[in-house]
Amino acid sequence: MDMSSRKPIKFGAIIHGVGGNISGWRHPEVPADASVSLDFYKRQAATAEKGKFDLVFIADGLYINEKSIPHFLNRFEPITILSALASVTSKIGLVGTLSSSYSEPFNVARQFGSLDHISGGRAGWNVVTSPLEGSAGNFGRDHHPTHDERYEIAEEYLEVVRGLWDSWEDDAFVRDKASGVFFDPSKLHRLDHKGKHFSVTGPLNISRSSQGHPVIFQAGSSESGKNLAAKEADAVFTGHENIEEAKAFYKDVKERTAAAGRSVDDIVILPGIGPIIGKTEEEAERKYEELAALVSIENALNYLGRFFEHHDFSQYPLDEPFPELGDLGSNSFRSGTDKIKKTAKEKGLTLRQVALQSATPRTPFIGTPERIANLIQQWHEEEAADGFIVHTHIPSGLEDFVELVVPILQQRGLYREDYESSTLRGNLGLPIPENRYAKQAVEVEQA
Ligand SMILES: Cc1cc2nc3c(=O)[nH]c(=O)nc-3n(C[C@H](O)[C@H](O)[C@H](O)COP(=O)(O)O)c2cc1C
Repeated sequence: MDMSSRKPIKFGAIIHGVGGNISGWRHPEVPADASVSLDFYKRQAATAEKGKFDLVFIADGLYINEKSIPHFLNRFEPITILSALASVTSKIGLVGTLSSSYSEPFNVARQFGSLDHISGGRAGWNVVTSPLEGSAGNFGRDHHPTHDERYEIAEEYLEVVRGLWDSWEDDAFVRDKASGVFFDPSKLHRLDHKGKHFSVTGPLNISRSSQGHPVIFQAGSSESGKNLAAKEADAVFTGHENIEEAKAFYKDVKERTAAAGRSVDDIVILPGIGPIIGKTEEEAERKYEELAALVSIENALNYLGRFFEHHDFSQYPLDEPFPELGDLGSNSFRSGTDKIKKTAKEKGLTLRQVALQSATPRTPFIGTPERIANLIQQWHEEEAADGFIVHTHIPSGLEDFVELVVPILQQRGLYREDYESSTLRGNLGLPIPENRYAKQAVEVEQA
């Protein structure tokens, strides 16, 4: 790819209450009720918007048990909190997870359609297929669909949602008080979808926003996840331990996107990073150690267990090689569990090492602002990333990133000084999808 045509770096911030680290809530700086504190979410969103981030992101899951990490036990539903954040922010994108395995397309099209209007074209939907088997029990289902089935459902689901979003052409609402014409019926379209998994008549009772459709994110990195991304996604969340792995993933997804007949510029790849920033390398290292020291081995084993269908790892000796698990985990977090098994084998890691490393990963992004800015620049330049989804372990981590790392990238001309647009698509440099019916009408006229 031609480097000169590369778009500036994109950033998203995960707002994750008391944090993704199983014991992070114990850190003196973390408000222990952050996961259900509107004030906390507002402050984090304001910090990210001050840093001109493209988006904030609210992750989600649909099953908990006593071993889940504290943030998962008691947290906001994404659409609800994003709607609240829409009214206290003005430029930043608002992206939330919603499962295509445990919801109905009509509701979801309507919810994101509404958020898109409320926010003035800043909504994004992270489509996940739900890794956790226990979710079935919360939705009156007798089984959790298999990994392949979940992705097949997701593909049809997205077709339906996009169709519903096009129910109204952009100039359908005439709203002429004098003549009494509220809308033009020729610009209203029923979907009449009948497929393998869904049967949806439509039309949807909300129109398109200024960005056309909410931005579609995809976060599964398995083969099926990558194929879905290539076909359907505007943006991809992913996770990599090193630049080589990230480059291979980036190339793979861009190639699949081209093979699906799309422009490689129309999909934005955003690996997750968890920067720990210090004024010196020593200070950053101390911050990492402080966080890691909060995690007991019992907690780390619980954390690891969730990825492997809540497997009980306390049954194995801690200081012997990571146990042989066969297929366990491949029907849930497939890409993640495959990676854990592979790395453990290749590096000859013990269970204790795997559990502690998973709970508090020692990533390359620990160090001074310059070190972190250099790595971000390198990952961007070498096509490992179009941008990054940033999760910080303590609230001041995001402030440090905005105050210390962002200005370096701005000085280097790699990152925006101000928002280019008021929509999420506009800031991500993504095209506005044409309304399928308006497009058909133009094609018929031209024929
Ligand atoms: C930054 C990031 C955010 C994610 N957010 C969610 C989420 O909110 N909910 C969820 O179920 N999975 C989320 N995932 C995806 C899971 O980690 C997991 O990979 C996926 O659900 C399983 O799909 P796969 O088998 O295709 O990998 C996220 C992944 C990344 C990298």
